[in-house]
Amino acid sequence: MRPLDSPPVGHIQITPSILNADFARLGEEVARIPSADWVHVDVMDNHFVPNLTFGPTMVEALARSSSVPLDAHLMIEDADRNALEYVEAGCGSVTFHVEAAKAPVRLAREIRAAGARASMALKPATPIEPYEDMLSELDMVLIMTVEPGFGGQRFLDLCLPKIRRARALMDKHGVETWLQVDGGVSLETIERCAEAGADVFVAGSAVYSAADPDKMVTALRETATAAQQR
Ligand code: DX5
Ligand code: ZN
Repeated sequence: MRPLDSPPVGHIQITPSILNADFARLGEEVARIPSADWVHVDVMDNHFVPNLTFGPTMVEALARSSSVPLDAHLMIEDADRNALEYVEAGCGSVTFHVEAAKAPVRLAREIRAAGARASMALKPATPIEPYEDMLSELDMVLIMTVEPGFGGQRFLDLCLPKIRRARALMDKHGVETWLQVDGGVSLETIERCAEAGADVFVAGSAVYSAADPDKMVTALRETATAAQQR
């Protein structure tokens, strides 16, 4: 849903990815991160990316068992046709890839009309500039900082200038659009992302390889907040 009390742009949010969690115990794994703002669910179809994860039925079961809202990241080829299934499954935010969507404006409007936050993702080599005029259609832009498909990859610093340019375009148009980063986000890399203007942070392996995942969520939030205020 797009609750009226959604945090404003600039408020730091941590959205752990369960891609590196134990899939045999997903409900318990989500319960280990009560401080998370959202749970990031990576949906992969083995076509858009060379990996296969969840479908809408599993996501619906997860949504029912989780007190934290779900943020679906759809790495699927036929986003135009399948994205709404994830709104119906109970996700509060649904992200499609612009490289997959045939009609991104129509799709963003459909996701909002169905009651979720609409978000659009860009792979590392996809520029933000062609989408300047549709920023007001989006509740969030996701800038990938690894090639999508797998957790545990190395953060790509080459994406930092794009984060900065995306934030500048959002400021120019005065839109209420969150800026999310995903891929290789850790205590070591989160500062550069926050300084560049990101406000929503996905972290998979950093959270689930930590001895105390919930403490790591809090540490990531504090580190990003401090970096943002510098
Ligand atoms: C990669 C996924 C990410 C991934 C992040 O395609 O979109 O959400 O799980 O994992 P880490 O934080 O380990 O890079
Ligand atoms: Zn993701």
